Amino acid sequence: MNVKLTNGKVIPIEMHKIRIVQKANLVPIDRRLEAIEEGGYNTVLLRTRDVFLDMLTDSGTNAMSDNQLAAMMVADDAYAGGESYYKLKDAIKDVLGLEYYLPVHPGRAAEHLLGRVFVRPGMVIPMNYHFTTTRAHFEMCGGRVLEIYGHDALETESSNPFKGNLDLEKFQAVIDEHGPENIAFVRMEATTNLIGGQPFSLENLRAVSEMASKHGILVVLDGSLISENAYFIKRREAKYMNATVAEITKEMMSLVDILYLSGRKSACVRGGFIATNSKELFEKIKPWLPLFEGFLTYGGMSSKEIEAMAVGIREMVDINVASSSADLIEYFVNRMVEEGIPAVTPPGGLAGHVDAHKFLPHLGSFDYPAGALSAAIYIASGARPMERGTISLDRDENGNELASDIELARLAVPRRVYTMAHMEYVVDRLKWLYANRNLIGGLKFTEEPPVLRFFFGRLEAVDGWGKKLAEAFKADFGADC
Ligand code: F0G
Repeated sequence: MNVKLTNGKVIPIEMHKIRIVQKANLVPIDRRLEAIEEGGYNTVLLRTRDVFLDMLTDSGTNAMSDNQLAAMMVADDAYAGGESYYKLKDAIKDVLGLEYYLPVHPGRAAEHLLGRVFVRPGMVIPMNYHFTTTRAHFEMCGGRVLEIYGHDALETESSNPFKGNLDLEKFQAVIDEHGPENIAFVRMEATTNLIGGQPFSLENLRAVSEMASKHGILVVLDGSLISENAYFIKRREAKYMNATVAEITKEMMSLVDILYLSGRKSACVRGGFIATNSKELFEKIKPWLPLFEGFLTYGGMSSKEIEAMAVGIREMVDINVASSSADLIEYFVNRMVEEGIPAVTPPGGLAGHVDAHKFLPHLGSFDYPAGALSAAIYIASGARPMERGTISLDRDENGNELASDIELARLAVPRRVYTMAHMEYVVDRLKWLYANRNLIGGLKFTEEPPVLRFFFGRLEAVDGWGKKLAEAFKADFGADC
């Protein structure tokens, strides 16, 4: 929650008490250089013993609540018919208003099932923006992802509160060109991950839903960050200023045919599900669940996580939970902007994002600026960001490199894990890095996997710039920090 101080300054205040903590470790600069070289300049391949602030992702890294942990103790570990399934069913019904659900072990398993059931070769899937696993799954089924975002969605500095909106004219053009029968579904992603966690408005979702239903096209919502999107609607869409996050969330649900999500984000637990009010759609997907995930009443999730998810789904629409990372991100982004760092604005969900093209204008897309900046941030701070740019985009079917629309170093802010002091530290190191940005060079693949290459890909620093950066850091701060 944001609170205003006597001097007018607004700060994000924690609406929880921190009673269990995990020790953090800041290894010295020489070890950080060694670690990133061992990890092939890919922050995904670092070991956490070498990481001070793990800002790689908010996926499965949030702090769970006492009630979530307590719920795990009463899980019903049955293979079939377990009571835990029904507790989550009740929570989904109460909070989201959806009758039917299928648990899956993570969000991408939901994408796999949706692809298998609804995507046929040659079909298109229009969406406000893709996510890495989304695109890979739908393309694997022979579909083609069409990104139909608004004209300024990729402008990293902006005052548009809803850069995640779908462009309705482009949607109409897609319908006219391909015909509704060749559109597997339209997908909306809550706080579009890859373009800076930017939300869509409820007005936009309603318009998408109306257009889609006029043509018999299904609306699928990726709600991995659903409560954050609802919170942004409350903060930014005048009509909903007085609505609760819970009311907004339910209204969003009334506009979609299928919801799927990774529970690892808003719901603060590891797992996911697909939910719908249509028995027909539910029955279409259901037979595939035991083949790929597990029986209907656990879907590959542990019963403990299902119990924790039932609590997490109820808690995520509490404004103090929905705002817990969004408000800290807002503070973080505003501080970056104050220090002249090219952060993505307005602040979004999931993370504070730095525009790597603006930070490193001397690098081209195929020098992998977002990857280079992410590695440099780790070297300078021990915080590990994630590359969200050209490395995260796989080659096309002819093996050609594709330049990402946008090059971001993503510094995730998991819920209830880090504090303002942590953010201040990262901002300070980013400031130092920005002043020394000419020392940061490009990256080159030494090992490049064929799919989702950002996970296991290994790279090297062109002309060994990592060493020079570490030397400059030591000259300013010494070797111990
Ligand atoms: N959809 C969105 C919008 C996501 O952000 C993610 C995961 C998924 C689907 C897949 O879910 O990991 O449970 O299989 N995002 C993580 C991230 C990995 O780091 O942003 P999953």
